Amino acid sequence: MSAVKVSKANKFSLKLESIAPDKSISHRSAMFAMLASGTSEITNFLRAEDTLNSLEIVKNLGAKVEDDGVTIKISSDGIKEPFEILDCGNSGTGMRLFCGLLSSANGHFVLTGDKYLRKRPMKRVTNPLREIGAVIDGREDSNLAPLSIRGASLKAFDYESKIASAQVKSCMILAALRADGVCSYTEPELSRDHTERMLKGMGADIVVDGLKTTIFPIKELLSPLTIRVPADPSSAFFFAVAAAITPDSDIVLEGVTLNPTRIEAFKALQRMGADISYELTDNRYEPIGDIHVKYAPLHGITVEDNISWLIDELPVLSIAFACATGESIVKNAEELRVKESDRISTVVEGLRACDIEVHEYKDGYKVVGGELKNAAVDSDGDHRIAMSFIIAGLRCGMTVTDLDCINTSFPNFFELLKKITKVEFK
Ligand code: S3P
Repeated sequence: MSAVKVSKANKFSLKLESIAPDKSISHRSAMFAMLASGTSEITNFLRAEDTLNSLEIVKNLGAKVEDDGVTIKISSDGIKEPFEILDCGNSGTGMRLFCGLLSSANGHFVLTGDKYLRKRPMKRVTNPLREIGAVIDGREDSNLAPLSIRGASLKAFDYESKIASAQVKSCMILAALRADGVCSYTEPELSRDHTERMLKGMGADIVVDGLKTTIFPIKELLSPLTIRVPADPSSAFFFAVAAAITPDSDIVLEGVTLNPTRIEAFKALQRMGADISYELTDNRYEPIGDIHVKYAPLHGITVEDNISWLIDELPVLSIAFACATGESIVKNAEELRVKESDRISTVVEGLRACDIEVHEYKDGYKVVGGELKNAAVDSDGDHRIAMSFIIAGLRCGMTVTDLDCINTSFPNFFELLKKITKVEFK
């Protein structure tokens, strides 16, 4: 599947029940099961490349994994030195969290990934891990994978991170669970907090006080996880934008995590004028519910706070910016440059190809709302760029190339898109 042509959409009214399960929570479910005694049971696990890679790694680390196609049962009697190189594929979350988990385990571990992941910065985790005694190395003085880890005993720490990153925070929390004393981790802005919620749910002693998280090392194994993974708000958001830019349309996105650190993009779309409501239906580890999005004329906004709460959604939010009246500005978002692609460049180039006026900054961009024009856009191997420009095509038709990356996070994306418009693969 190398290219797709999508057609302009007519108005639609839809309820989507099968949005891809949450990627962050699926990765964590597989990994955290290795910290429990007894069997963890995970339903609605995301069966996409990134998270299946994490599950494979967990198996390579000696866990017993039973999968009947509905429930995945994981039991482990401790991390074992693997025979295989551990392949995280495209996933920064996989690689950075496994660094934290494995730094204190007995044995030698080699983590690698695809050609994109091997270019992404790992110093943000290898530096603080080395400071507490981890024996970890990689290319460019441990900044680039492949990384090799020799499990070691870790010292207690008080770490103040300069970046609001859930991956760094989660890595350090996992390291702290096995450190030789009480640890604390402070971040400049709150990043997504699934790790804290899930580990606390499993019985870990973790205290969150504003931006500071205190972690008490575990003396014994945690209780197993029993979790149904909610739908991924970052995946659901593609369809929220689809409804918000298609006149007279509306969509209900079912069973999504309503964790406040994950739905900021919906709030931004609301600020732009879209009609959005939320209905809480469940609360286990996280608030979960339905999100209803209705079309309304959009206007430009500035996005500059709590960037980590909508970092993954900025590419497709930018498609809404292009369809709005007036200017929209993204600031403080330099982290976009080190995602699966340099998302400041890929968004700016893609929008320019669609004849939209865009100004690029070091830490963001300005989009001048206009009329999207049919174009051909390449994803640069980035799933969120591919899906964003496919959604843009609902306004004007679009050809998008390099699509396999969509399987890293949202394997049933096209199945759902076909409910809205004509999709032709080339
Ligand atoms: C993730 C955290 C975010 C996000 C990524 C998933 C996670 O990255 O962009 O898609 O599951 O912890 P950072 O923590 O590096 O900002």
